[in-house]
Amino acid sequence: MPTENFDELVSAAISARKLSYSPYSKFQVGAALLTADKTIVTGCNVENASYSLAICAERTAICNAVSNGQQEFSAIAIAAVPLATPCGACRQFIAEFGADIKIICVNADDPTEQKIWSSGDLLPENFSGDSLK
Ligand code: THU
Repeated sequence: MPTENFDELVSAAISARKLSYSPYSKFQVGAALLTADKTIVTGCNVENASYSLAICAERTAICNAVSNGQQEFSAIAIAAVPLATPCGACRQFIAEFGADIKIICVNADDPTEQKIWSSGDLLPENFSGDSLK
C-alpha cells in the first residue's frame, strides 16, 4: 500500500509559520489542515502582551477552517524549530473533529524530520460531546 504523501501540507505549514506573531516567546509555529475536499487551511500562533491569551497555530488553523465552512479534516501538519508536538489544549481541539486525523509534526528547518500520529494516539479518552448527551 502506498504511504501518504504530506509534502504539500508540510510546505503549507512551514509557510504559515513565517506569519507567526510571537514577539514574546519568539517560538514560531505554523499549522496546515487538510480538509475533506482536499483544500489546505493554515494558521500560525498569535501571542499577546497578556501572555496567557496566546493562541496556538493549530487552533488558529481550525478556527480559520470552521469559519470558512470546513469541519472535516484528515490531517494537520505542524511546523516548528525544533519539531514540537501539540499542546494539550490543541490535542483536545483537534480530537473534537475525530480520532483518525493524522498529526504530522515537522522540523521547519529540516522537513525530513517528521513524527506522525493520529489524534486518538495523542489524546486517548478525550472529553467528547458524547458526555453532553
Ligand atoms: N504553540 C503553538 O502554536 N502550538 C503548540 O502546540 C504549542 C505552543 C505556541 C504558543 C506560543 O505562542 C508559543 O508556541 C510558545 O509556547
